[in-house]
Amino acid sequence: MYRSCLRPLLFRLDAETAHHIVLASLPLTVPLAPLLDALLPVGDLPTRLGPLVLKNPLGLAAGLDKNGEAISAFAALGFGFIEIGTVTPLPQPGNPRPRLFRLPEDRAIVNRFGFNSEGAVAVARRLESTDRTTDFALGVNVGKNRDTDARDAAKDHRFAIERLRPFADYLVVNVSSPNTVGLRALQQPRFVKSLVEDAVDAARGVPVFVKVSPDWTGEGDDDDDLARTLRAIVQGGATGIIATNTTLSREHLSRPTLESGGLSGAPLKGRALAVCRRARRVLGPDVPIIGVGGIEDDGDVRRRMAAGADAVQLYTALVFDGPLLPRRILRALVSDLSKSPA
Ligand SMILES: Cc1cc2nc3c(=O)[nH]c(=O)nc-3n(C[C@H](O)[C@H](O)[C@H](O)COP(=O)(O)O)c2cc1C
Repeated sequence: MYRSCLRPLLFRLDAETAHHIVLASLPLTVPLAPLLDALLPVGDLPTRLGPLVLKNPLGLAAGLDKNGEAISAFAALGFGFIEIGTVTPLPQPGNPRPRLFRLPEDRAIVNRFGFNSEGAVAVARRLESTDRTTDFALGVNVGKNRDTDARDAAKDHRFAIERLRPFADYLVVNVSSPNTVGLRALQQPRFVKSLVEDAVDAARGVPVFVKVSPDWTGEGDDDDDLARTLRAIVQGGATGIIATNTTLSREHLSRPTLESGGLSGAPLKGRALAVCRRARRVLGPDVPIIGVGGIEDDGDVRRRMAAGADAVQLYTALVFDGPLLPRRILRALVSDLSKSPA
């Protein structure tokens, strides 16, 4: 139904216009949730993510619901956890449009939104009135404003965290978006450790995750940039990491694109999987890892978890496969579990 009817209509529209239409209409579908539950029931898959217990390991990645406008609707799709944001401390418009591009042949998206955000105060106000009766965990992802000097990033994080932490089951510090000039430099071990210390202090006990980039050069040994960054994040007191954000690479595309920005979806899969595997090796068995990047089906979920992820998130596959995708994936995972020997 989605692929044959709705998607062709939506894909005729400019990508960002379609995005806004979907986000505005999704909340209207919440009353249909009981029908969905009856037609496509999903059993629980209780999943431990550090201090959190999720009802299942499949989450919505940041960036689809940046301002927390459709949280209940995404919960009704079956996600065990939903991450909103990136929320910046002050409102900002992001980059000029067009800034969102579909690459259907490659089941991929390029975006250069650049943290368009209503700002922490407005998002906190919306979260105050968000229905939290459904069972899901809410993550709130924060990042610095574009015009904030990198040296003041910690102040921006603190401002956003202080306003948003009352509503968050976990917080994310985003230092890995490729669309804010200079942001990724904050991943360097000498900056990231103190940034994390400060965020953890502001979070007052709410778990803090740090989202990392998939683009690293290095030897792949235990002392390259990625390994040192991961260790600094944990030394700073973060609960866990999210691997990964979008990539600047243009590998694995069947036709070239001239659009600049972060690439997500199927072409990111190998890179994100490799970073997840490295993170598990570097950090050992106990640090929670959320795996994200190119997750399209239950097989991808299993492979990402075998590579060390405790839970996973997706975004781009939802655009190509539609709102029933989370339930389809979860049903396959549950049925698989019921077949495996006890
Ligand atoms: C249009 C778009 C906007 C995004 N915005 C954000 C964002 O604001 N903050 C963030 O941490 N990640 C953002 N992401 C990255 C996703 O959360 C995710 O890490 C990435 O897309 C890889 O997952 P996927 O291949 O399932 O899409 C965005 C991704 C897309 C496609």
